Amino acid sequence: MRVGLDPRDPFTAAPDVVVLGLVERGDGDEALPKALAAADTATGGVLKSAWARREFRGKRRELTVFHRPADGGRVLLIGLGPAASVSAESARRAAAEAVKGLRAKGARTVGFVLSSFALGRVDRVTAVRALVDGSILGGYEFTQYKSAPEAGVTEATLFVGGGSVAGLDAALNQQRMIAEAVVWTREIANLPADTATPERLAAEATKVGRELGLKVTVFDEDRLREMGCGGLLAVGGGSRHPPRLVVLEYPGRPARGKAGRTVALVGKGITFDSGGISIKPAPQMSHMKFDKSGAVAVLGTVRAAALLGLEPRVVGVLCCAENLPSGGAYRPGDLVRTFNGKTIEVLNTDAEGRVVLADGLGYVVRTYRPDVVVDIATLTGAETVALGDDTAGLITGDEKLAAELLAASAATGEPLWRMPLTDYHRELVKSDVGDVRNSIEIPLAGMLTAAAFLETFVDGARWAHLDIAGPAYTTVTTRKYQPAYQNIGATAFGLRLLTRFLQGS
Ligand code: BES
Ligand code: MN
Ligand code: ZN
Repeated sequence: MRVGLDPRDPFTAAPDVVVLGLVERGDGDEALPKALAAADTATGGVLKSAWARREFRGKRRELTVFHRPADGGRVLLIGLGPAASVSAESARRAAAEAVKGLRAKGARTVGFVLSSFALGRVDRVTAVRALVDGSILGGYEFTQYKSAPEAGVTEATLFVGGGSVAGLDAALNQQRMIAEAVVWTREIANLPADTATPERLAAEATKVGRELGLKVTVFDEDRLREMGCGGLLAVGGGSRHPPRLVVLEYPGRPARGKAGRTVALVGKGITFDSGGISIKPAPQMSHMKFDKSGAVAVLGTVRAAALLGLEPRVVGVLCCAENLPSGGAYRPGDLVRTFNGKTIEVLNTDAEGRVVLADGLGYVVRTYRPDVVVDIATLTGAETVALGDDTAGLITGDEKLAAELLAASAATGEPLWRMPLTDYHRELVKSDVGDVRNSIEIPLAGMLTAAAFLETFVDGARWAHLDIAGPAYTTVTTRKYQPAYQNIGATAFGLRLLTRFLQGS
């Protein structure tokens, strides 16, 4: 999707579809809103009569299409709901709804009238960013495996009007890079497990490193054995595709005279989670190809940080393994020694994410002494039960870090909800025979006992955990800039929020 700014009048530029946002008007409002005057002319006065018979009122998500007889184009009106509720998210959704809805409907070029989205608390820069996000993310579909993909919108123009364009261009270019990084990430996250093996994820990281001049280290199974990464080796033991620990280093661009901070990002990269010996039931097991989403989000975020030239040094760690049952698989009852010497009592081989993260977290805190560590993982079904499929769980004892992540979440529209971690949860994960157990075997606070388990491996570092089991991929969604219903797909959740966090929100 190409995106760009255009100072011209939208009806002179005449894209296939001119899109206008419309705030909700009361039933008593008789006069056609002034902002629609030009559109009314372009449609030969049809808008005015449609308005008079209350064909559209700007209700939230109301969509109305009119034709432009003079040039064969269309006008699409998108209801934004009451003025007080208009936000950046309204523009993001509207843009996504437009480009998604126009798929296979003969439209290639779409133009958004910026002033109809930059309303109330939403300034022009924010509206530009939201429309870029919505167009690029909403226009994305995973089509690599389709022999005849449907054609969609290829160009989104933002009509900025006569006002000052200063700052808008820079905002558009930066947001385009971020949204394109999301698309790049979704392309990998959507790959099936036969293709996106741990070796393949390592190869993608190596390629990113070569392209952007980043140091990338891949630890294979022999190196993992020497290092004592028993967690990755145990989980990966059941698969013909051996585990990999991948470390990417983006050096950062510290401001002159300032010591730069180091942020470590650690992702769960289970390329397929069958559950292992504690095998999962068959329904929807296919979704477990998305169990690598945390690691892929880390890869995409490091890539975005390097492309944008962000200030902090970033160390990205991908904990990659495939969890399958076989003669080589780890078993319930096994005791696994991890990188930092702590042992895990395995009670359920389906609680494998925390077992691979134990090595990744232990490794990064000891090797890099980062100022802050954030891990991101499709870790627990309990997260989805608690928060649904659009919101991620945030667990941290660090107030400042929590505030920064929540601010980044609010700014990007990737929802986070903070959850508690107390001694109650820490007590529950203690093991009788080892240091910690990977399952408590009763359905209590599954997202939080998982966090308590991870905390054992961060060695007191400032740390936050993001459980993205719900929002990592969609099955049903109301967020139109994510893949739609029946188009089960990766969202690359976390990339936009973590990139914003690195920018210092
Ligand atoms: N990958 C799953 C969590 C998951 C479930 C992600 C559904 C996305 C959608 C994870 O490895 C898992 O199986 N967790 C278990 C832990 C339990 C055995 C302690 C779970 O949540 O049931
Ligand atoms: Mn599992
Ligand atoms: Zn898993």
